Amino acid sequence: MTNYPERTIEVSFTPLLFHLHKKENSIVVIVDILRATTAICTAFANGVNHIIPVASIEEAKKYKKKGYLVAGERDGVVLDGADFGNSPFNFTKENVNDRIFVITTTNGTQAIEMARDCSKVAIGSFLNISSLCNWLAEKNENIIILCAGWKNRFNLEDTIFAGAMIENLLSNKKINLKLNCDSAMASLDLWNVAKKDLIGYVQKFAHRERLRKLGLDDVIEYCFTKDVTEIIPVLDGDKLVKLK
Ligand code: MLT
Repeated sequence: MTNYPERTIEVSFTPLLFHLHKKENSIVVIVDILRATTAICTAFANGVNHIIPVASIEEAKKYKKKGYLVAGERDGVVLDGADFGNSPFNFTKENVNDRIFVITTTNGTQAIEMARDCSKVAIGSFLNISSLCNWLAEKNENIIILCAGWKNRFNLEDTIFAGAMIENLLSNKKINLKLNCDSAMASLDLWNVAKKDLIGYVQKFAHRERLRKLGLDDVIEYCFTKDVTEIIPVLDGDKLVKLK
């Protein structure tokens, strides 16, 4: 038995379902494992000053005209006129250290846009999973994991990550977590299947296949590597900044 107050955790399997979750007194964690939130965590690990996520290509182009560095992707492909796409391997120290850039992606930045009005929004990936979960455990709020999915559809990679987070949080003595939503239970169950052979399981993902066809699948193992960084990017107005 723990003396900590009970908190809930829910998973929005796609952005389309997000409106069903009660946002008051909740921290929202945005997840797009292949590849947007992994790329964002990589940029912070490599010293980016801050990132401006935008939903539309038009907004990204406006920033580009003003001289901003722009990372842009649609359907996996680098946007015309962007400085680079969404591969985490683009966000090297050389490209991002101490700099600001704008990012727009097919799903990840759309999910961030949806959560913009929520009071606390954090970015999650395998790269920062332990520090993210430790931070969440210390808070008082409920947790909603918003899976970016693929064009408003369910995807496996974001869901198994949600399950990995739930497993981590359940093992933390500082949080009294109540799984009162089947979405959390289903994510945990899927993670328990996937983790037995994670890279083998990844072969089932539709987006893994999309990236393979585009010759962009060199990032797969990296995107499932735990604890590369302790940095937790959070939304502060229109910017993603490093949580202090
Ligand atoms: C997205 O935001 O849709 C993804 O991260 C797509 C990708 O970069 O492969």
